[in-house]
Amino acid sequence: MTDLTSALTKACADAFEALGLERRWGAVRRSDRPDLADFQCNGCMGAAKSAGRNPRELAAEIAPKLAGAGPIQSVDVAGPGFLNIRVTDDALAGRAEDVRTDELRGAAKADDAEAVVIDFGGPNVAKPMHVGHIRSAVIGDTLQRLMRFLGDEVTSDAHLGDWGLQMGHLVTELEDEQPDLVYFDAAFEGPYPVEAPVTIEDLGRLYPQASAKAKADPERNERSQKAVAELQAGRPGYRALLSHFINVSVAALKIDYAFLNVSFDLWKGESDVDALIPDVIADFKTQGLAEEDGGALIVRLERESDKKDIPPLMLLNSRGGTGYHTTDLATILDRVRNLDPKPSRMIYVVDQRQALHFEQVYRAAGMAGMFPEDKLEHIGFGTVNGPDGKPFKTREGGVLRLSDLNAMALAEAEKKIADAAKLPEDMGDAERADVARKVAVAALRFSDLQNMRTTNYVFDLDRFTSFEGKTGPYLLYAAVRIKSLLRRATDEGHSAGDLAIESDAERALVLAMDGFGAACLSAREKRTPHILCEHVYGLAQAFSAFYGAHPIAAEKDEAKRASRLALCEAVLGQLECGLGLLGIETPERM
Ligand code: ARG
Repeated sequence: MTDLTSALTKACADAFEALGLERRWGAVRRSDRPDLADFQCNGCMGAAKSAGRNPRELAAEIAPKLAGAGPIQSVDVAGPGFLNIRVTDDALAGRAEDVRTDELRGAAKADDAEAVVIDFGGPNVAKPMHVGHIRSAVIGDTLQRLMRFLGDEVTSDAHLGDWGLQMGHLVTELEDEQPDLVYFDAAFEGPYPVEAPVTIEDLGRLYPQASAKAKADPERNERSQKAVAELQAGRPGYRALLSHFINVSVAALKIDYAFLNVSFDLWKGESDVDALIPDVIADFKTQGLAEEDGGALIVRLERESDKKDIPPLMLLNSRGGTGYHTTDLATILDRVRNLDPKPSRMIYVVDQRQALHFEQVYRAAGMAGMFPEDKLEHIGFGTVNGPDGKPFKTREGGVLRLSDLNAMALAEAEKKIADAAKLPEDMGDAERADVARKVAVAALRFSDLQNMRTTNYVFDLDRFTSFEGKTGPYLLYAAVRIKSLLRRATDEGHSAGDLAIESDAERALVLAMDGFGAACLSAREKRTPHILCEHVYGLAQAFSAFYGAHPIAAEKDEAKRASRLALCEAVLGQLECGLGLLGIETPERM
């Protein structure tokens, strides 16, 4: 579906081209001065300079050629050579009708769609998530929704952390608590019990216990290290335990992610690519890219052009064990070999503080010919901070679990609903609980996504859950208001009809809707969901201004009311679509 900006850009580019000038001068954007024009083209200045001409004269020559073309009503020359463009009421009405009926709500598919892996979430088995994991979940999930919407073939992968020292901690701590379990009997030949020997609560207790002991006692740490090495070497009892730990963890994680409307196609983990590690090592060795270094096997990555130190990547440590680098390389190999369609790009949505890790992995993958380095992208993000400006911690000073964050947001949403929203009296408990969850999710997701992802932001649940200001709940309220006025119109026997654009507020509303496609494409291209947030918020505001100017229920003119109801349907469709891309669902009433 072509938006007005694109249609006008094409018309202007044609006009420049007809004068022997480059098409790129025809770029059109929304006007900075809505009182004077809907759109503007600033290309005359640059084009005139390159052609050694006077910009105002050039503009005066182009303007009459444009008038009457496509959606254009009039073109005025202003200032040093701006083209101020006004579009016809009919073009706006047609555009609103497109948005109302189009599946993509006025957006257009990307013309460079790809098969993409999005690696996000990255929770670790047994280790609690920190708020960074929550950002990854929300940003990564939004990118997967947006990219799918625009035509990319996305495979999302949670990439579970299940191969590191924490597994050694769990194994040894469990052994101390229950030494008689068959998993610790090296002579046991299986089969191992199907039932897990631990619950999620056990895991939540065992890991911090062991990790505290290991910090205080090097020998205790050494035991965990040894257990990981044995696990990685394939000791059957430990592998069986690992499967239990993973299953128990994943079941709990799925519940917490589902609360936030976050989902993954694949729940693969670091341990799943274990079998590919020999191939990875061989790949580097046969190409002469790996070297021994104090018992470890490393890959040197420096380049002449480097402006900072890029330390070598560690394929095998001196115990022969593998770490974070190697599992990431093996995972790339796994995806290339086994995914259908074969990915042409991999995007990693991970805390900015891991930038060096990804730079190392990407370089190594490129050097070994596993995957082109420039098709591996690290999409980093800043931290979520507490009021002290440091990464957010719980009141007790610990890391915040996703489940606790969800519960906190839900409690706050329930409070806000009780205080602020006037819920319909006939609303039962189940619907009320559903509304509270939707408000909580809207609050958490929108407050995260609206920030430029690379900046840090301060966690402020009271503000995030407010129904006023630039918040998720405000947007839900806007959508619910439209739903309720449409419901009321239906009840009174009125329905949507032919669209006619007559007032400034209507015009501004359609122009706001027209920007949806561009916002989607730009958010995709830069991997920055905040651009989409801006659009959705701007649309809600334009609707609010429109509704203030034209109270629909009071409208006596049947045709006007029918047109405005159609406009409401278009806005609601796009608003819900945009919110849906942000992973936010709207209630029917509130
Ligand atoms: N589990 C990692 C962590 O907690 C994040 C994983 C990110 N993805 C990846 N392919 N390395 O830091």
